[in-house]
Amino acid sequence: MLTEADRTMESRPQHTATRRHATYRIFVMNPMEIDLNIQADTDVDTMALEEIDVSQPELYRDDTWQPLFARLRREAPVHYRADSVNGPFWSVSSHKLIKEVDTNDRVFSSSSDFGGIAIVDPPVVDGEIQAQSFITMDQPEHMPQRMAVAPTVAPSNLGEMEALIRARAVDILENLPVGETFNWVQEVSIELTARMLATLFDFPYEERGKLVYWSDLATALPEVTGDDSIDMKKRYNELMEAAGAFYQLWMSKAGQPPKFDLISMLQHNETTAHMNENPEQFLGNLMLLIVGGNDTTRNSISGGVMALNQYPDEYQKLRENPGLIPNMVSEIIRWQTPVIHMRRTALADYELGGQRIRKGDKVVMWYLSGNRDETLFEDPDRLIIDRPNARAHVAFGFGVHRCMGNRLAELQLRVLWEEIMKRFHKIEVVGDVERLPNNFIRGIKDVPVRLHPI
Ligand code: HEM
Repeated sequence: MLTEADRTMESRPQHTATRRHATYRIFVMNPMEIDLNIQADTDVDTMALEEIDVSQPELYRDDTWQPLFARLRREAPVHYRADSVNGPFWSVSSHKLIKEVDTNDRVFSSSSDFGGIAIVDPPVVDGEIQAQSFITMDQPEHMPQRMAVAPTVAPSNLGEMEALIRARAVDILENLPVGETFNWVQEVSIELTARMLATLFDFPYEERGKLVYWSDLATALPEVTGDDSIDMKKRYNELMEAAGAFYQLWMSKAGQPPKFDLISMLQHNETTAHMNENPEQFLGNLMLLIVGGNDTTRNSISGGVMALNQYPDEYQKLRENPGLIPNMVSEIIRWQTPVIHMRRTALADYELGGQRIRKGDKVVMWYLSGNRDETLFEDPDRLIIDRPNARAHVAFGFGVHRCMGNRLAELQLRVLWEEIMKRFHKIEVVGDVERLPNNFIRGIKDVPVRLHPI
């Protein structure tokens, strides 16, 4: 079972034998047997460059990825790793080169036909429906589908949603347990995004927890999370349950006058009006909107509280000038970088940063690293809420697939922080933060906090 990348390896000048051996190994052994903790214990500056594997999920759980990427940006911004749980791959780690890849969609494909957008290849299971969404399509299929859905999160529609988002944020904040320690992720980050998703889909409000559950399930693949106890059959069946629920929702709205929710917009657009007749696309596009809007925003909400606690001077700046909130929102998104990477597959040979990428190679853009690029961002590991170029971050990607929901995400964060500042002098982190082992979504599970009301 050789990939295109394996086949082209014979023509590579260096380390050919090692690469072949290592690549073969990952297909015959249980990937989880590989020692995933190796890099946390090794001196990053002295280890051989080819030993660096930034795809290990534990690096993100332990938050130990910074020195590895700093070295890659310095010495090998286009870096080849011959063997990993996910096979051979190129890492692109500088801001400039990430933009070069992301804006060249003719060479660097997002299509699921070649492996899609994550370092882990999509699971192929005979007889099962494979979700297909426009994020994993190239032109000409991608753009018409994106254009059909985009108005849901266009500024005019967001204007309508702002009051509702604010009311829901206020309701959450007013009911938090003052005087107690609680998990900010559960009580605020998850709850607010769940309410938002229910609004966006016009999904039954009291069942909004299901949207969160399905979103978490959609990104829970063993190769991404390092957790091989996931029951893939059960996961598939539950995602089919999600498809059934969306199908029912679709049918219940069919024939009704247009509204501003997503399902209604899809039904009234001629490109997507019959999307329900194609189960792969139906599930794929709806899941994309749920996943896109769920854990990304959730983790930005949690990350903001953590970052302000880590840099108390910035918290002070915010209290003195809440007018900094819009810029702070961009800075939090840069600092947190909720989507760690996006993957592309080369459709042709290409020279990138002095390295020869071959047709068929897996190319991973590490947004998390691009957002810490010291050649663009001064003191990049620090949160600086009035950073002049915070908006230059690559957390939303670039080019034709640039995040469609970026304005909605920013709106939610802005409104939440405006309402927080009216009520609380400080949200204090009072215990250990728990992160998730995941190389795709930068997930935060537990942030114990206590509130200090004004
Ligand atoms: C802070 C929050 C968010 C972050 C960091 C984020 C990040 C991203 C990234 C990195 C991409 C891929 C860009 C590329 O390949 O060049 C993307 C695409 C996308 N995002 Fe977001 N996202 C966020 C919030 C949202 C929200 C709230 C929605 C809700 C509707 C959403 C919907 C989408 C969709 C539909 C795409 C696919 C666009 C396409 O393929 O044309 N995202 N997002």
